[in-house]
Amino acid sequence: MSSQFPEARPRRLRRNASLRSLFQETEFSLNDLVLPIFVEEEIDDFVPINSMPGVMRIPESKLAGEIERYARAGIKSVMTFGVSHHLDGNGSDTWREDGLVSRMSRIAKDAVPEMIVMSDTCFCEYTDHGHCGVLHNHEVDNDQTLLNLGKQAVAAARAGADVIAPSAAMDGQVQAIRRALDEAGFTQTAIMAYSTKFASALYGPFREAGGSALKGDRKSYQMNPMNRREAVRESLLDEQEGADALMVKPAGAYLDIIRDIREASRLPLSAYQVSGEYAMIKFAAQAGAIDEDRVVRESLGAIKRAGADLIFTYFAMDLALAGI
Ligand code: PBG
Ligand code: ZN
Repeated sequence: MSSQFPEARPRRLRRNASLRSLFQETEFSLNDLVLPIFVEEEIDDFVPINSMPGVMRIPESKLAGEIERYARAGIKSVMTFGVSHHLDGNGSDTWREDGLVSRMSRIAKDAVPEMIVMSDTCFCEYTDHGHCGVLHNHEVDNDQTLLNLGKQAVAAARAGADVIAPSAAMDGQVQAIRRALDEAGFTQTAIMAYSTKFASALYGPFREAGGSALKGDRKSYQMNPMNRREAVRESLLDEQEGADALMVKPAGAYLDIIRDIREASRLPLSAYQVSGEYAMIKFAAQAGAIDEDRVVRESLGAIKRAGADLIFTYFAMDLALAGI
């Protein structure tokens, strides 16, 4: 078959837009996207987050209206983060029946019962030291934090959260939460584990968004970004502990990890395009260096192509308003 003609001509299937879309391998839709939101108590107006242009803290009093607006645009799911004014050493507001974690789920589910509400389950936005658990001799006490995670998860489930999403990066957190939920009668409340969560510099803007009090870092509980084998191990541990779905966070710089976990587990897999990934795209677009809409679609498409079923992204509402 040697001739002056190429043996293969992949360009045949790229000749026009119809052919290209017919042969496109990867797609995403609103069914795949979760919008993370920040809700602040005791304020009256939206607060812009400077490090995340276009994202605002939502006053609790306007949460119901916002959830209705998201639903009208076609958003199917939100993940709630609270910006608390009630900080203490343990983050005890999180398990109060009338605390912010519970109120966010209650308000969102009352406003739009079909909206899938995922409750971020951690303490860093409710502790006065900003760590994701209880401090003991300057270290985060794993097992004491597990007890509190169980209490928070039950409170959120009682308030109507569909999915508990533990992000504290404590060992055994999925098992502890599953047991606490089951014992309280919430056998149908799902757990979306932040199963492979790296100690990433890409969370920078989130600290402003959440008003974090943290001094120092989370490297004694979140993962070393350089570790690929451990990344798979962490997600498989959460699967054994009873997670209903897994997550890789951040997403864009960890596509190899998404692929590894996709091949190691049959559970649904999500990926979290975090605040720093959002900010990099926004600021580069604002500087005129890139086309925002195209880069957003390319970044999300790449995350799906790597093997994610769901994507947490702050761009979800922009895409919904664009009609996807
Ligand atoms: C805290 C938490 C963080 C994010 C979600 N939950 C920050 C952190 O671990 O420091 C990051 C989200 C983002 O950057 O978009 N448990
Ligand atoms: Zn945390």
